Amino acid sequence: MLTFVILLLIMLSNDVEVNPGPLGGFFSIFHLNIRSMRNKVDYVENISNEADVICLTETHLDENIKNEDILIEGYNRDPYRKDRNSSGGGIIIYISKFIQAKPRPDLDFDNEALWLEITFPSNKLLLCVVYRQPSNNNTFWDKFHESIENAMSYTPNVVITGDVNVDFLTDHSHKIFDIMRLNGLKNVINEPTRFCATRQSLLDPILVSDSCDVYDSHVIQIDRTYSDHDGTIIFLNNLGRLQNNTTYKRMIWDYRNADFDKCNELIATFDWESIINAENSRPPPCCACVRAPCNCPPCSPPWPTYKPRRRYPHYG
Ligand SMILES: *[C@@H]1O[C@H](CO)[C@@H](O)[C@H](O)[C@H]1NC(C)=O
Ligand SMILES: *[C@@H]1O[C@H](CO)[C@@H](O)[C@H](O)[C@H]1NC(C)=O
Ligand SMILES: *[C@@H]1O[C@H](CO)[C@@H](O)[C@H](O)[C@H]1NC(C)=O
Ligand SMILES: *[C@@H]1O[C@H](CO)[C@@H](O)[C@H](O)[C@H]1NC(C)=O
Ligand SMILES: *[C@@H]1O[C@H](CO)[C@@H](O)[C@H](O)[C@H]1NC(C)=O
Repeated sequence: MLTFVILLLIMLSNDVEVNPGPLGGFFSIFHLNIRSMRNKVDYVENISNEADVICLTETHLDENIKNEDILIEGYNRDPYRKDRNSSGGGIIIYISKFIQAKPRPDLDFDNEALWLEITFPSNKLLLCVVYRQPSNNNTFWDKFHESIENAMSYTPNVVITGDVNVDFLTDHSHKIFDIMRLNGLKNVINEPTRFCATRQSLLDPILVSDSCDVYDSHVIQIDRTYSDHDGTIIFLNNLGRLQNNTTYKRMIWDYRNADFDKCNELIATFDWESIINAENSRPPPCCACVRAPCNCPPCSPPWPTYKPRRRYPHYG
């Protein structure tokens, strides 16, 4: 609501365009699981707030639906599409004419995942839209993880939206949360997005990397005759100040695979006196599990399974 009041004030003050594109103001991304797009284009146009990017999942389109049948005014005439078939799945992304974007098929990891590279004057953002079928298994998550790592080695500025069919309100130990932690991603949607008679769930998160300056994000209510999901929208600020492509290396440890018994044994049996009394007290090679020096061989799997990476914002 605050956003609308502020947008209204901006409009009234009359010195900023409503949709100024990437050069100023907010950059916005809208997502909705549309549950078949047929005959719903006008509705999408109405409720998507003139977002710079409109992402739809479960489009149920096939080759019989041409791009000219589903145009949205002000957006690219050839939206990015991945169709499954008329009975399920599918993704489409519309990009405002003011935005420069190109697909990044090298990052795609699933038939229903679509990465775009969006270019701003001094920065780039990678946007992934994903629809995960509930039946997809661990292979999907491994590929998802790898794809995010590849994206983040290209730019620290990453946004992932779509329907992952994990309930963020209840499935707190799901694998996706490990993937988010390891990549410094956070979800900015906190309300349910999918509604059925007996249950409300949050299946449509928006995941952002830590360099993204999130001005606002919220759920957009959808007429239930159009979809049993609500829409989501995110507004990013200060795109000129998204993190530049500077890299630094940082080692992180995969504690879930750690052998703590081995570690305890090494600590217990290490000759600590030798360090305390040593004149040249340079520590011997360190074991991953402890910050104090210990008598470990150089670390080997299953210790660090993640290579030194560009940035791990929340890990110390
Ligand atoms: C979209 O908005 C226009 C203008 O308010 C309205 O006439 C039209 O009925 C709306 N379409 C849908 C599908 O909601
Ligand atoms: C649509 O695709 C799904 C999954 O690939 C398949 O099971 C289904 O039979 C297909 N339906 C049609 C109408 O082609
Ligand atoms: C997961 O699904 C993929 C594709 O559907 C299949 O090839 C693979 O064998 C499955 N893996 C497991 C562990 O079930
Ligand atoms: C960032 O730097 C990496 C490594 O130098 C390079 O491969 C990548 O293309 C750069 N990304 C952007 C967005 O310029
Ligand atoms: C980011 O990098 C570009 C190209 O190297 C440079 O022109 C620009 O000033 C940098 N932006 C910031 C905020 O450091």
